[in-house]
Amino acid sequence: MNPAPATASHRFRYPLAIVGAGALGLHFAARLAAVGPVAVIARNAERATALRAGVQVGGMRFRVDAFGPHELPLAEWVIILVKTGDTADAARIAAALQPKGVLSLQNGLTVDQVREACGPLRADQGITTEGAFRDGDLITPSGAGETLVPPDFSAVVELLSKAGFVARVEPDIVAARLAKLLVNLAINPLAALFRVPNGALCEPPVRLYLEALVREAWPVLRAEGLELDESAALARVVGVAQATADNRASMLQDVLAGRRTEIDAITGVFLDMALKQGIDTPTHQAVLTLVRLLEPPQQDHT
Ligand SMILES: NC(=O)c1ccc[n+]([C@@H]2O[C@H](COP(=O)([O-])OP(=O)(O)OC[C@H]3O[C@@H](n4cnc5c(N)ncnc54)[C@H](OP(=O)(O)O)[C@@H]3O)[C@@H](O)[C@H]2O)c1
Repeated sequence: MNPAPATASHRFRYPLAIVGAGALGLHFAARLAAVGPVAVIARNAERATALRAGVQVGGMRFRVDAFGPHELPLAEWVIILVKTGDTADAARIAAALQPKGVLSLQNGLTVDQVREACGPLRADQGITTEGAFRDGDLITPSGAGETLVPPDFSAVVELLSKAGFVARVEPDIVAARLAKLLVNLAINPLAALFRVPNGALCEPPVRLYLEALVREAWPVLRAEGLELDESAALARVVGVAQATADNRASMLQDVLAGRRTEIDAITGVFLDMALKQGIDTPTHQAVLTLVRLLEPPQQDHT
């Protein structure tokens, strides 16, 4: 997809824009809009028109400053919040807003893809444990979390903090991303394959697979910059699964709804790392193959 060419002089410059008018994008946007202008870039003009009429986010009706990809404003900073299969399109749109920087807060590892699409622009990936889900046109925040961003994006922290989000600069964002990847690598595919809430992953029979995934993952992640050993890695994963025992992981929700999953940005990216390091990770390879079998055929949304 090619966004409209820039005619910069006639376009309003938003302090912040969010590409992706879904659960998390609208959750962030609704609270940010209460303290300043925020633009939301939707997949197409029809969706943008609907959002401008208003959307329900939690207890409030929110009229979104929404734009389609061919009517883009300018923005100082851009946050990408599309599902990972849409990253490249979203990053190209982000770059067309002519920002100072583009920040992905997606799950999985998308930083390389975002940088490639953004060219010389500053582009990076943070992490967030904010939560929200979407049921038709209703967005329901599902728990406050914390948002960590790379040092170059302190301006985004200021904007998020002003809106009441817990956000901070994380000096070692690489390790923070890898720690989140570890958890996602173990919890998401198993929850999707066994169709169980997170707590069940810590019990037999799934626990066996959870332990195998962690055992294969930690040496690869440690070589990439995540300082932990096998028992610390397992404790971290089990801790998250137990703390979210009743939750359905996002990959399980995607599978149950017949949507594409984010397996390529999670297990797929991890397998590329393992391959480069020459480390065998057969359980992750099997999990990738099995989850892909659950996905619908790819569709063209343009
Ligand atoms: N939801 C959470 O609690 C949560 C928590 C932490 C991290 N995350 C991560 O945040 C990311 C977004 O998750 P989500 O739950 O918000 O997903 P979502 O509800 O599916 O929202 C994604 C939105 O992006 C839109 N989109 C797709 N391609 C686009 C494009 N090229 N331009 C503009 N918009 C586009 C989609 O449009 P359509 O509706 O037309 O498809 C959809 O509205 C994912 O990586 C997820 O893992 C989510």
